[in-house]
Amino acid sequence: MLRNIISKRESELPPSMIGRIVKAAQKDKKIISLGLGEPDFLPPSKVIRSVKRNAAKATHYTPTEGIAELRKAVAKKLRSENGIHGNADNVIITNGSNESIMIALMCTIDPGEEVLVPDPGFMDYRPIAEILNGYPMPYKMSEENGFEPNPDTIKEAINSGKTKAIIINTPSNPAGNVLKRKTLEEIADIAVDNNLLIISDEAYEKFVYGSAKHVSIASLNGLQDNVLTLQSFSKTYAMTGFRVGYSAGPEKIINAMKKVHIYTSISAPTISQFAAIDALKTRKSYIENARKEYEKRGLFLHKRLEEMGLSCNTPEGAFYLFPKISNLGLSSDKFAGLMLEKAKVAMLPGTEFGKYGEGFVRLSYATAYEKIIEAADRMEKAVKSMK
Ligand SMILES: Cc1ncc(COP(=O)(O)O)c(C=O)c1O
Repeated sequence: MLRNIISKRESELPPSMIGRIVKAAQKDKKIISLGLGEPDFLPPSKVIRSVKRNAAKATHYTPTEGIAELRKAVAKKLRSENGIHGNADNVIITNGSNESIMIALMCTIDPGEEVLVPDPGFMDYRPIAEILNGYPMPYKMSEENGFEPNPDTIKEAINSGKTKAIIINTPSNPAGNVLKRKTLEEIADIAVDNNLLIISDEAYEKFVYGSAKHVSIASLNGLQDNVLTLQSFSKTYAMTGFRVGYSAGPEKIINAMKKVHIYTSISAPTISQFAAIDALKTRKSYIENARKEYEKRGLFLHKRLEEMGLSCNTPEGAFYLFPKISNLGLSSDKFAGLMLEKAKVAMLPGTEFGKYGEGFVRLSYATAYEKIIEAADRMEKAVKSMK
């Protein structure tokens, strides 16, 4: 048996809770999972047809930056739907937006340097920065503020000379809020004043509800050189397994990312890039139908949680709710564990998303409406028995 073979870097990574939930749900079929952030819709039929049509010609690598036709189509989409200027040279296609996060940080932070990350925020930002021997520095967001980042908190977290980038995420995972234009403008000023790159994770850009509006920070005046925008086909077109997403930003950064991309995965899957070209040609009604369905589920689950005495912000975006459970006198971990055991409903403890997620749990409503009703009924019973 090899000794000391596993790196300290790997050994110190926290185990993923999501993996445990998937296993538990596979073992016990009674479990309803509100744990995963994965659309339950089918991709557009155009995408499936594309796979069948292109299988034979998708057996080779593509250029590391992605197929030219796809990069061109993405640049066009960014101009018309997000107000982000640029052309194909400003775009790199990656293995989902997760790989974009990884190679963006590889290209911007050296060991010992810092990146500001939202807390609570998507659980991959911190380990990715740590794998690169960088420091993810959390900026706290609080429930009272609707989990909107506080520009003063961000300013305080900047360590002059060490901080290179700030990650923002809107619509957000896990809190399901959508960042306001005013907040984005303030963050933009901070980034420009402190020579920071903004990495704007917009994986859920199409899922916004009520009066919330998605604003891409790169579309704000004069910000083009400071922002790398990350978007994905995963959630918008229910294509998580295709592993295709992209980064768009200044050529200097995109060119650096291209260099590194050769070493991480050479290129995003060819068949998925063809499918992505077709996804972008899909009728807008595909996305609108999914958006409406998520909104219906989110509003329903929100109402039920409030009725159980679990206060929770109204859903604005993505497909998550982040109710407060601390008034029950339990930690997030304990509450999620009890719900799994007593109600057979899987969810993630808020602490999976950073230390300021303590006192909350994340529920995903990317699950069939009927299952959400059943999950809410079971949770209600279990919560009642705890009081
Ligand atoms: C906020 C956020 N960003 C990025 C990703 C990564 O998605 P993908 O790599 O499938 O594009 C996820 C996945 O859940 C996410 O929640």
